[in-house]
Amino acid sequence: MSKKILVIGSSNTDMTVKSEKMPAPGETVLGGEFIMGPGGKGANQAVAARRLGGDVCFICKVGRDIFGDNAVAGYDREGIDTSHVLRSDKASGVALILVDKNAENSISVAPGANNDLTPEDIDSVADVIKASDYLILQLEIPVESVLRAAQIAHEAGVYVILNPAPACPLPAELFSYLSLITPNAGEVELMTGVTGELDDKVAALRKMGVSDVIITLGSRGSYVAPSGSEAELVPALKVNAVDTTAAGDTFCGALCVALSEGKDLAEAARFATKASSLTVQKMGAQSSIPYRKDL
Ligand code: ATP
Ligand code: RIB
Repeated sequence: MSKKILVIGSSNTDMTVKSEKMPAPGETVLGGEFIMGPGGKGANQAVAARRLGGDVCFICKVGRDIFGDNAVAGYDREGIDTSHVLRSDKASGVALILVDKNAENSISVAPGANNDLTPEDIDSVADVIKASDYLILQLEIPVESVLRAAQIAHEAGVYVILNPAPACPLPAELFSYLSLITPNAGEVELMTGVTGELDDKVAALRKMGVSDVIITLGSRGSYVAPSGSEAELVPALKVNAVDTTAAGDTFCGALCVALSEGKDLAEAARFATKASSLTVQKMGAQSSIPYRKDL
């Protein structure tokens, strides 16, 4: 029987403009291309895990509006279990994304309904959390809710993955509930205060209570540090990147699928590297996430 992957997190509608360069504060840059599509770190990770072969349930909170309806209809079409999606009177989340010619992005999120996903909501789905094998969390819903979900999962023996994005202050208690953390280069420095060697960053996260650590390094790849064995650098694939939006989300969803299939952390990171190298070659978030056959 396939292992159950539960993703709890944000659902957004992304509005992306790609232009030659990022506007400086106060500047207008003319001549960009516009695309609109489903996004949000939670949703992207759920979609990645599903498209790559996982048995996925996604819990998020969306508004009672057209963006929310479209988003949930999309997750249904993917074959994701949406039976525990919640609704709020606030507007569904929206992200405004600017991408430059180097594929770098700047994102501003209006969380709306995502901010309404409360610890009480998490308590109401405690049985779903306990029945999962893997729980994937990010930081686009209230931190207290992330904490509650991680605690319930950890106590039930579920493998808990935190993608700590976007970076924000975290309660010390949270780290003791995590099985794996996947910060990027900036997030790990903010969390640990360590700016030097990767091994020192890993050691700092271990001291905080996490066992497995993967630090993603964009086009350089990822530093994979399983508890109890040697750390290694898994290089990224050399590709023509046009938009890196959702690279980290694809990495996270893919990694979890590979772990759920019995791969070890380094093998799973290689699978995730391949998947995210495809994501960066297309525009948009979910529009760029590959299917298993594409790998
Ligand atoms: P984002 O916030 O843009 O979704 P992130 O900052 O969370 O991403 P990154 O470290 O940028 O995460 O990327 C995750 C993984 O995606 C990397 O470890 C790498 O394997 C792959 N990746 C990212 N950028 C590139 C690139 N330009 N070329 C090839 N692979 C890439
Ligand atoms: O990680 C990419 C995501 O971050 C985008 O889809 C956007 O919605 C923001 O939440």
